Amino acid sequence: MSESAGRKFSLLPMLGHTKGKRSPVTCALKCDNACSGEVCNSSSNSYFRDIASATLSRRSALGFGAAGALAVVFGSPVTSAEPAAAGGPGLSAAAKNGFDKSKLKFDAIAPVDAAVDAFTVPEGFTWQPIIRWGDPLFNDAPDFDPDHQSAAAQARQFGYNNDYTDILPIDGSKDRRAVLFTNHEYTNENIMVPAGYDAAETRGIGRAAHGLTVVELERKNKNKPWGYVKGAPLNRRFLTDTTYELTGPAAGSALVTTVADPSGRAIKGTLGNCAGGTTPWGTILSGEENFNGYFASAGTSAADKRYGLTSKPTARQWELDDPRFDTRNPGYTNESNRFGWIVEVDPFDPTSTPRKHSAMGRFKHEGANVIVARSGHVVAYMGDDERFDYLYKFVSKGKYQAGDSTAARRNNMNLLAEGDLFVAKFSGDSPAAEIDGSGKLPADGAFDGSGEWLPLVVGGKSMVAGMSLDEVLVYTRLAADKVGPTKMDRCEDVQPSLHTGKVYVVCTNNSDRGKTGKEGATEVNPRALNRDGHIVEITETGDQTAAKFNWNLLMVCGDPAKNNSTYFAGFPQDKVSPISCPDNVAFDSVGNLWISTDGAPSSIGYADGLFKVTLDGAERGRVEQFLAVPRDAETCGPIIHDEERTLFVAVQHPGEEGSFEAQHSAFPDYVGAGAKPKPGQARIPRPSVVQVFRGDA
Ligand code: FEO
Ligand code: CA
Ligand code: CA
Repeated sequence: MSESAGRKFSLLPMLGHTKGKRSPVTCALKCDNACSGEVCNSSSNSYFRDIASATLSRRSALGFGAAGALAVVFGSPVTSAEPAAAGGPGLSAAAKNGFDKSKLKFDAIAPVDAAVDAFTVPEGFTWQPIIRWGDPLFNDAPDFDPDHQSAAAQARQFGYNNDYTDILPIDGSKDRRAVLFTNHEYTNENIMVPAGYDAAETRGIGRAAHGLTVVELERKNKNKPWGYVKGAPLNRRFLTDTTYELTGPAAGSALVTTVADPSGRAIKGTLGNCAGGTTPWGTILSGEENFNGYFASAGTSAADKRYGLTSKPTARQWELDDPRFDTRNPGYTNESNRFGWIVEVDPFDPTSTPRKHSAMGRFKHEGANVIVARSGHVVAYMGDDERFDYLYKFVSKGKYQAGDSTAARRNNMNLLAEGDLFVAKFSGDSPAAEIDGSGKLPADGAFDGSGEWLPLVVGGKSMVAGMSLDEVLVYTRLAADKVGPTKMDRCEDVQPSLHTGKVYVVCTNNSDRGKTGKEGATEVNPRALNRDGHIVEITETGDQTAAKFNWNLLMVCGDPAKNNSTYFAGFPQDKVSPISCPDNVAFDSVGNLWISTDGAPSSIGYADGLFKVTLDGAERGRVEQFLAVPRDAETCGPIIHDEERTLFVAVQHPGEEGSFEAQHSAFPDYVGAGAKPKPGQARIPRPSVVQVFRGDA
């Protein structure tokens, strides 16, 4: 499959709609116009008003004080913090000391207009990128040259659109060396290369800018900012031809074999890598999210429809270069079944084979976050980021072993390959479930209720009538449809607090809720036409592996000054930073929640940002904006090293609504109009991992 050289790369076939709430470029390139298309979830499960739930004895989230709330947590057998973070089972000492003890003090910034191309931090702080798109990773890698890009150069450079990010210390380095992991979710060819750039080369650059990066960092001491180390031993790019081992029950299944891989166990590449998680054993998990946008397909089967696979040409048209990207080609029917998994990477072993874990199910995985249960089983929480899709939980068959011994490491590295898979069903009992603009809360004063984890796979057996084990794992959405889970408002990050064991489910928005023919507001998704998103707080009833849970809403997002359907756990609405479209979350050392957003420019009109939310005490529900990202960008991958008064974000798709010739952003190099770029600088935006630190650092 080839195409005549010199064909202009054009976005036109990609732009499915131009007046949506979200940037049309994001819609086309990131999620294959998921909002304008129709993913066929015709199941009729879990309509709130159809649920006759038992009335629970419960507290009002508005009236429950800090001491009581903490006592519930501390006295509960629920929690078992991740050993690496908390030094063994039980709550972290930091959390016991209180949620206001973080060293990272700041005065919240004012919201920044969405049109401003600036990276804004609180007074007293400064920022600089650690690594930017195109930065050379290896000694033989060329410097970034935006006017002379090539696929070969890109393959040796930092990729595009960094999303999930973490920084792990390198043992024995006395805090001076670390390894940075980042995934590269998608590409914005419209601002990456000049119009008219060779089309085949452009496709190659795009492919090489996808995948993952591992790169070593160094600093003089822990009061100094990090820099990346070109040519360091652990540096690695994972590209579309990198081999991933498929593990678990669906490995080798007839549903995942292709003519190029009759074994059904060796998959080339990872796609749409969005959020992720870091395991207690030092590996990184990455979610394959909008993989459907990379495949042309028949689009006629139930599975194709449920996963958004269509017959139209793909946005990037890689099917012109490689037959596997068109599943109608002989021998490649199953190629798209080899994406949509959770990927696990060992960033400390550059020779290791990354893996995709079939036991964790296949859907549009936002990410996965792991906690070790009191029983020793590992529990992973996972969201399927599609409107009206589901929340999942994986429980490992094996148990976590503490320590760094070879035996422990071998044991832990296999924990995600085998286990049970569940999908969440929420019940609420309020007849006044919808926040309708009156600001009225349910009659009992709280959005809360109970829930259960419905089994899909238990003990290596399918629990879904009429579906085999490998069918449940490969077509997890279809399997879940059959058991009646709750349709959610796009679960992004789902993360347990290692301080309390409570799980935070970030529902970014759902513009379709309540539209004609669609499910309306439910107590756990309490707003029709949910533009701004909300966050659910789950408390498992017992060990983290429990079959049942209780839940409440932590917040219903928006700009309280303009919208009285917001809710911040009862905290005064005139004292919070406006926040919309929560996406990724992280915790600081004492257990406060930090939220990065994606979509605020098109909802509340402000730039996306990073926000701290106090989770307990008198200020529970207080939202404080820490930073704002440049024009057209979203904030991803927050890492909060508050003990060092430093934090990190991945700035994704700055300036994405511009063009190469008329850029919207010059982040992070900010070369002014008419100024001559310094070496390594460019007038085009470069997605980057940024560190923010005290100005005196
Ligand atoms: Fe890639 Fe769900 O955000
Ligand atoms: Ca995300
Ligand atoms: Ca996002």
